[in-house]
Amino acid sequence: MTASPATVSDQALGFGLGLRTVHYDEILNGHPRVDWFEAVTENYLVPGGKPLRMLERIRERYPVVLHGVSMSIGGTDPLDMDYLRQHKALTQRIEPAWVSDHLCWTGVAGRNLHDLMPLPYTAEAVRHVADRVARVQDFLGRRILLENVSSYMTYASSEMDEWEFLAAIATEADCEILLDINNIYVSAFNHGFDAVTYLERIPANRVRQFHLAGHDHCGDVIIDTHDAPVIREVWDLYAAAVRRFGPVATMIERDANIPPLGELVAELDEARNISAAHLLRAAA
Ligand SMILES: [Fe+2]
Repeated sequence: MTASPATVSDQALGFGLGLRTVHYDEILNGHPRVDWFEAVTENYLVPGGKPLRMLERIRERYPVVLHGVSMSIGGTDPLDMDYLRQHKALTQRIEPAWVSDHLCWTGVAGRNLHDLMPLPYTAEAVRHVADRVARVQDFLGRRILLENVSSYMTYASSEMDEWEFLAAIATEADCEILLDINNIYVSAFNHGFDAVTYLERIPANRVRQFHLAGHDHCGDVIIDTHDAPVIREVWDLYAAAVRRFGPVATMIERDANIPPLGELVAELDEARNISAAHLLRAAA
């Protein structure tokens, strides 16, 4: 991949929501005030059937991005070429604005943990992940976005901070970043680092999308549950991210306790309002 990352101004899709099956009818019949949808890649890999038909109908009306959970880009098993072939066929069919997955590993020795496991933040892991990202990007014929995951453990072998690790991989692999603002908040609390420092150390020209979500505060740990509205402190961190990175495409993830679409559209309006206010402040 030789092209330089696109500028933020030509990337910004606006304000989107995660595409969930319970909202299909409302989306297709109600024309909600949503600029784009993020579809979970793995839900549409079968070439045919109702899920893909619904995604194609929604794609006729809205920009779509694809967000995967099983690339295991940090894993040590060989890249899953069957998965990547299915992924490529879907991207050619849907023509998403971009595709993303997580900076994590999801299994080892052929066993899938069905979870997004953090990596040790080492120079060796940077080289390992960057090499795999380059091979994926060459195969898909496009740059991918990697998302920072929330985490509940760290490795004694880590040599750098999480933000240094993410920035190093993006630079070395020439990929882009999906910055999950809630995940930064969750991990900052769980590990005791400063969330604003995280934002300040990420290269601005690599950030193409933000995620926002709710979580479960359990006292001494925060669990990234995606089952509740975005909390005030995460909105405040989002405001800082808008001031730092500009009008980056923003979406809200809700994976449990999914409310009627109207409630999520109203929550998305909060993101629109905060973004507009803080872009104005940054310009002033
Ligand atoms: Fe996320």
